[in-house]
Amino acid sequence: MTIVPVWGILIGMPSTIVAPSILSADFSDFGGAVTTMEDSGADWVHLDVMDGQFVPPLTFGPQLAGDLRRRSRKLPFDIHLMVQNPEAMARAFASTLADSPLKDDAITFHLEATVHAHRLIQEIRGLGMKAGISIVPSTPSAMLDELLPFVDLVLVMTVNPGWGGQKPIPQCLDKVRNLGLRRRERGLAFLISVDGGINAGNSGEAREAGADILVAGSAFFAAPDKKAFVRNLRGDPSSRV
Ligand code: DX5
Ligand code: ZN
Repeated sequence: MTIVPVWGILIGMPSTIVAPSILSADFSDFGGAVTTMEDSGADWVHLDVMDGQFVPPLTFGPQLAGDLRRRSRKLPFDIHLMVQNPEAMARAFASTLADSPLKDDAITFHLEATVHAHRLIQEIRGLGMKAGISIVPSTPSAMLDELLPFVDLVLVMTVNPGWGGQKPIPQCLDKVRNLGLRRRERGLAFLISVDGGINAGNSGEAREAGADILVAGSAFFAAPDKKAFVRNLRGDPSSRV
């Protein structure tokens, strides 16, 4: 097994990062949702930014990230931009976190949303953040080939973006397997994130496919025992949900 040190974890080791999505929180209490995530033992806070164009819904902008960071510096922010022309939004999020960054704060944007993905990756990294690229279910993972050496994470959407609570599309896990293969073949160190419809029942399959990061929105907030849910997503054999 090739062990590649990356982001303070070792690829190949059983240390799945669990990133609950704030999209499924009560929008009148985002601060409380972050506290709930911290108390659950989760690793990152996943922030779904939607602009009403790339996807129909509108969620929130950079101010929320800034306000949440002022309230708590425990968990890195995993910012998922589902917006057209993500350049300006990426800069605005990086700027709002610049005063109190955490080492693993990441901005992920969609390949489908900009022509200049390579340039934006460099810019996000230049602003001191990890850079991620995401693809919707209809985009082949091969479209990422030229970008893989430059990114810190690849987020594979297992639902069509826009809403929480959807069923995952099982074929999308083939892309996760493919990306894992390419990473090994090319000796790269990006992390693979899986987002959409992840729950206690299917997380094992996503981990086996090669996911390093599991995003979960509706299943996290619906779980009566969130600590057990997080352990379960990590694949902790002692967990029961
Ligand atoms: C969907 C978002 C996801 C979503 C996941 O467009 O990118 O992060 O919140 O929610 P669930 O886990 O409910 O599919
Ligand atoms: Zn997301």
